[in-house]
Amino acid sequence: MTNLTIKNKVLDAATFVATQFDPAPKIGIVLGTGLGDLADTLVNSRHLLYSDIPHFPESTVHFHAGRLVCGEVSGKHMLIMQGRFHYYEGYSMQDITLPIRVMYQLGIRTLILSNAVGGIRERVRPGTLALITDHINLMGDSPLIGPYEEFLGLRFPDMSQPYSKSLRNLAHQVAHDLGITLIDTIYAAVSGPSFETPAEIRMLQILGADSVGMSVVPETLVARQLGMSILGISAITDQALPENMPPITHEQVSQTAKKITPDFNRLITELIKRITV
Ligand code: HPA
Repeated sequence: MTNLTIKNKVLDAATFVATQFDPAPKIGIVLGTGLGDLADTLVNSRHLLYSDIPHFPESTVHFHAGRLVCGEVSGKHMLIMQGRFHYYEGYSMQDITLPIRVMYQLGIRTLILSNAVGGIRERVRPGTLALITDHINLMGDSPLIGPYEEFLGLRFPDMSQPYSKSLRNLAHQVAHDLGITLIDTIYAAVSGPSFETPAEIRMLQILGADSVGMSVVPETLVARQLGMSILGISAITDQALPENMPPITHEQVSQTAKKITPDFNRLITELIKRITV
């Protein structure tokens, strides 16, 4: 097997995607567990299966469609990842973040990252939406570790504002106008795939986290390395408080996320309408 660099893989994949999707998209969206419907609302949409794109790993979680969908919202050209790659699936951090580098290569500078999370505070309630204001990386790895070349972005990316303040302000304004509840959360990313123990939830609370999940942070790190503006938005699918932890299942997470989908779709659609890119 040839040992291609990240640069080779990104350029191969981006060249392939660019020939299929014209004009070039300006905004990228990654849809998390149960939130895939938004991709079906695009106008003039076309899609590619991940399995057809050079160097894309194949999505294994069967709730995820595993498609790259291109189309328009309010005349703005979007690229949507319907389903993402997870670290717990056994891929490297570099592999799960390859699509973010491809998006950058296509000209995307604004990125919306969504996921399903567990709320670990009383106020972080299942069935609602949350903005990620900041994160704590507890995945034990980073996609930025490894040989460096300028193509990747900065060697030592600044993380003083990982999630764009102006995009967050806009999201709050839109949520307010649409009557959608949108809270602010500090998000802890863990590798999973097991859900947390009560002691782990207590630890996450002490660390200052409000929510916990198994994705987003690797994508944020790569996007920030490249200087992209990020909006992080979570569907709170369950609540884990150490003193009261009912068992949770992935099906439950997925089903609750689906219930939040209409609000999520309305919020993102209106946000895109108002965004300047
Ligand atoms: N923990 C970790 N990941 C999750 C959870 C959770 O409670 N809910 C959805 N994704």
